[in-house]
Amino acid sequence: MVEIKNSQEVDKLRAAAKVVAKTLALLKKEIRVGISTEQLDKIARKKIEDEGAKPGFLGYRGYPATVCVSINEEVVHGIPSKRIIKNGDIVSFDVGAIVDGFYGDAAITVPVGKVKPEYLRLIDVTRSSLNKALAVIKDGVRLGDVSYAVQEFVEKEGMSVVKEFTGHGIGRKLHEDPSIPNFGIVGKGLILRSGMTLAIEPMVCLGKGDITVLKDGWTAVSSDGSYSAHFEHDICVTDLGCEILSKA
Ligand code: MF3
Ligand code: CO
Repeated sequence: MVEIKNSQEVDKLRAAAKVVAKTLALLKKEIRVGISTEQLDKIARKKIEDEGAKPGFLGYRGYPATVCVSINEEVVHGIPSKRIIKNGDIVSFDVGAIVDGFYGDAAITVPVGKVKPEYLRLIDVTRSSLNKALAVIKDGVRLGDVSYAVQEFVEKEGMSVVKEFTGHGIGRKLHEDPSIPNFGIVGKGLILRSGMTLAIEPMVCLGKGDITVLKDGWTAVSSDGSYSAHFEHDICVTDLGCEILSKA
């Protein structure tokens, strides 16, 4: 069942998503060559708590940290560790926060130091594919139209969407219905309605989109070792379009 949120509920989601956006902005500012992913996790946890929120991922299905930090060929769910950020890395941050029982969940990918042009293009294409999806969303549109907008754009650029992970509804639970694949068929699927709150999150690989989960049970890497990027926004469907909730 896909929930329609009332305006008080959207207010709480907006507050949670804003904490996430501010935390991502801080991580983007603080990341540098030589910092460990654990240090970045600490920075994020402090920021979320200073904002009066709670980390949304910590303890979720046993996830052991505040942030997912996924580097280079890692697609999503990288666990913070002693690993040091290097010149030329591309780093995806995925952050969750809870305010008044509502979740925010968003992600960005940032280049560190001197990054190869093809990896910068991967980041641009992934960010743009999210914007393509958001441009399609409004009351009355079908989910397949949104999914197709991402896939079509990414594949036209010669890259691949990851099919094993999807976006999702968001609210009192981190993952609500519907599941939102980054591939689909125009005219198919659920009809979106004003007041639905969704997390749209394209994950894109330079090679094939197949993934492998490492022995830690979390870190998803591209099976072919190709680099991967991830962007995610929480949005609320409106009559004329959508409101981006995860804006700093
Ligand atoms: N954005 C990711 C998702 O929607 C974050 C989940 S990480 C977890 O699946 F640790 F919370 F599982
Ligand atoms: Co998500």
